[in-house]
Amino acid sequence: MDELEAKEYKEHIRKQWDANPCGKVGDITYDLDYFKNVEKNRYESYGTWMQSFYDYASKEHKGISVLEVGFGQGTDLVQFAKAGANCTGIDYTPTHFELAKLNFKLRGLKADLHLGDAANLPFEDNSFDKIYSFGVLHHTPDIEKCINEVYRVLKPGGTFVMSLYHKDSLFHYYTKVFLDGIVKLQLLTLGYMGVMATLEKGADGKKIKPLVNVYNKKSLSPLLSKFSNTEYSVRHLQKRDIPILGSILSQSYLEKLQKKYGWYIISKSTK
Ligand SMILES: C[S@@+](CC[C@H](N)C(=O)[O-])C[C@H]1O[C@@H](n2cnc3c(N)ncnc32)[C@H](O)[C@@H]1O
Repeated sequence: MDELEAKEYKEHIRKQWDANPCGKVGDITYDLDYFKNVEKNRYESYGTWMQSFYDYASKEHKGISVLEVGFGQGTDLVQFAKAGANCTGIDYTPTHFELAKLNFKLRGLKADLHLGDAANLPFEDNSFDKIYSFGVLHHTPDIEKCINEVYRVLKPGGTFVMSLYHKDSLFHYYTKVFLDGIVKLQLLTLGYMGVMATLEKGADGKKIKPLVNVYNKKSLSPLLSKFSNTEYSVRHLQKRDIPILGSILSQSYLEKLQKKYGWYIISKSTK
């Protein structure tokens, strides 16, 4: 394990997201408006590609069992619930667990939410039709164990959709390594893993240093080799991550670039 021990990295996960709920917007009055604001910000500003790509509202989700691994404040799982899926979730951070429960309650939706570790899923073998995880497993030191657990609890023929930070992206090499690491000299003061940790809101790369790993198709394929079939996609590119030309690029060219150099690599695997 790089730098910190696996156990320490797990402690940093809790420190990070207990202090900074993922996608938090505005002042903290945790009411329905707050959760609707988080949702609006997520799909209309942060990840404008997400709703059409993941097709949460698809009729195919009606009546199926969906497990989300690392649900954060529950925003994506709510979308599956709205489409009529029977939702289950697990997350490692107590604050997220409480916020997601409240999010579902305020919307009058149901989900079976658990506080726990993706490396030890508290579910029977072959339980779920679909397992979804967005921006989670690159933070855990035992990703292989987590993916094996996902495989175990997924039904034969079921789908696992996982989104991880993409190594071969402009955000990784230009924004983090070049701008933050080299131009701002953070590689000298924080080291590579420290620089990467600072991309999470509130993390200083020292006292709060969540594990941030990056993957590409080559490094992911062996982890997903048990599945019968996996398709890979890449998404998420913002103009500010494109050196010099970012502000003048057309939207259609940006779309093309994001499919190669975007910040998330998404695998869709079938068991
Ligand atoms: C960046 S947040 C993403 C949350 C949510 N998926 C979203 O996109 O808003 C990462 C989440 O992964 C959770 N997490 C990290 N490691 C985990 C593990 N081993 N088991 C379960 N959840 C984990 C954290 O608690 C946190 O909620």
